[in-house]
Amino acid sequence: MKAVRKAVLPVAGLGTRVLPGSKTTPKELLNVVDRPILSYIVEEAREAGIEHLVFVTGRGKAAIEDYFDHHIELEAQLEAKGKTEMLAAIRAELPRPGEMSFVRQMRPLGLGHAVWCARDIVGDEPFAVLLPDVIIDAAPGGLKQLVDAYGKVGGNLISVEEVAPSETDKYGIVDPLSRDGDLVKMKGMVEKPKPEAAPSTLSITGRYILQPEIFPLLAEQGRGAGGEIQLTDGMARLMERQDFHAQVYAGVSYDCGDKIGLLRANVALALKRPDLGDAARAAVEALLRG
Ligand code: UTP
Repeated sequence: MKAVRKAVLPVAGLGTRVLPGSKTTPKELLNVVDRPILSYIVEEAREAGIEHLVFVTGRGKAAIEDYFDHHIELEAQLEAKGKTEMLAAIRAELPRPGEMSFVRQMRPLGLGHAVWCARDIVGDEPFAVLLPDVIIDAAPGGLKQLVDAYGKVGGNLISVEEVAPSETDKYGIVDPLSRDGDLVKMKGMVEKPKPEAAPSTLSITGRYILQPEIFPLLAEQGRGAGGEIQLTDGMARLMERQDFHAQVYAGVSYDCGDKIGLLRANVALALKRPDLGDAARAAVEALLRG
């Protein structure tokens, strides 16, 4: 079984749900507490043993490349002022030379198309996909849990979580064949089923391990829901030929591509921070008291 060494991070979307903030700042660089959403995602990928990150970018997203590069003036100033902790934190995020590639999706034709744009850099090996607007708060991290499951069952895997039965029509939902602990053998997926028609309450969370045979399927695939080339359509076809498992990960996810999700992430992660938790709690409680 080939190891999962590379991860694709599609960051070319327009982020219309968090406008106008995302008009000139890529939504993936919006802050959660005091660092960009993307910083949490890259940390999660590295923890899972990922050696190479492939960003699928688009127009207006150049700040993402800059974020993962030296800022000479800033670093010099932090050094001169003796702000060594912040300097170390900023440098710790920098990639090793050659650890990151950037490929351009010239038009945002959908998530499936974005992943397909990474095909030449991924090559003929299994790879991870992390939706860079979903933060998973978990220990071990969401992708690490999925990579560990891949070590047991191989094939293709997706992270899932339980949602309330009344909420299935907001998510992609897994159609299960059988379940063994946190691992569910899949027979299909259904996009946003009404509660009475939902085959389960397991929703797709935004972490995937896929085999490279997905690429030719995406290449020949037409537009699906919303007029976009959907990753789920490609996965559904790959499922006819290869095994897919869903892993019910242990942790909590925050959809930071959505206004309330972004707010929840900020509050929840600030409350958990040893250096900020008490002050954050006092601020939130004061607001709630009115
Ligand atoms: P989303 O659907 O959440 O992103 O896709 P979006 O299209 O930017 O958001 P809204 O709906 O307009 O608010 C999940 C991820 O896939 C990327 C996005 O950047 C996002 O991180 N994506 C989506 C692409 O890279 N290319 C696409 O064509 C579509």
